[in-house]
Amino acid sequence: MNFITLAEKRFSVRKFKSTLVEKEKLDLILKAGQLAPTAVNFQPQRILVIQNEAGLKKLQECTPYHFHAPLALLVCYDKTTSAERSFDHKNSGDIDASIVATQMILEATDIGIGSTWVMHFDPQKIKKSYAIPDQFEPVALLVMGYPADDAAPSKLHAQRNAIDQTVFYDDFSGWEGIKNDNITSTNHHS
Ligand SMILES: Cc1cc2nc3c(=O)[nH]c(=O)nc-3n(C[C@H](O)[C@H](O)[C@H](O)COP(=O)(O)O)c2cc1C
Repeated sequence: MNFITLAEKRFSVRKFKSTLVEKEKLDLILKAGQLAPTAVNFQPQRILVIQNEAGLKKLQECTPYHFHAPLALLVCYDKTTSAERSFDHKNSGDIDASIVATQMILEATDIGIGSTWVMHFDPQKIKKSYAIPDQFEPVALLVMGYPADDAAPSKLHAQRNAIDQTVFYDDFSGWEGIKNDNITSTNHHS
C-alpha cells in the first residue's frame, strides 16, 4: 500500500470488536514506534501497554473516550531524557511522543488494527492509577483493536482544509484572509 493510500485509510475507530490483538501485531505496532525519529535520537518515549482486565477497567475512570477497546497504548515521555532547544528551552518530549504515536497508529492501520488518538484524559488520575513515575509525562492514549463491523469514520474525518488554506509558499502573505472553515468547535470528539 502506498503511503497516501494508507493515510487515507486511517480514521479514528471508536467501536471495536472484543477480539484481542495478537502479540505479533502488537509487536509490529511497537516496532513502528521504535523506528520513529526523535530529537537528538534521545528516544524519550515510554509506552505503557494496557491490555489486562484490571488495566482496561481503570482506563474507564480516566477518560470517557475508552470506547471499550481491548488494547490501549499510553505514550509518555521521560522529561529527564527528552531534548531541549537551547534558544528558548522548548522541550521536544511532546513532539517525540507524538511522532512515535503517529507511526504506531499508521502501522496499526496497515495491519488492520483500528485506533483513536485520545488526549482527553485526566493526566493526574492516569498517573496515579497506573503508578506512572513523576518524571514521565503522558501525551497520547491510543485506544486500539479490531474495528467493529459497523465502525465508520465520524463526519469530521472527511473534513480537510484545502491545501492552500494551510500551506504557504516563500512567505505567509495572505494568511489573515484564511478561514478555518471546517472547525466548528474547539472541543469536539466525534
Ligand atoms: C492530539 C489529538 C487528540 C485527540 N483527542 C481525542 C479525544 O480525546 N477523543 C476522541 O474521541 N478523539 C480524539 N482525537 C481524534 C480526532 O478527533 C480525529 O483525529 C479528528 O476528528 C479527525 O478524524 P479522523 O481521525 O477520523 O481522521 C484526537 C486526535 C488528536 C490528533
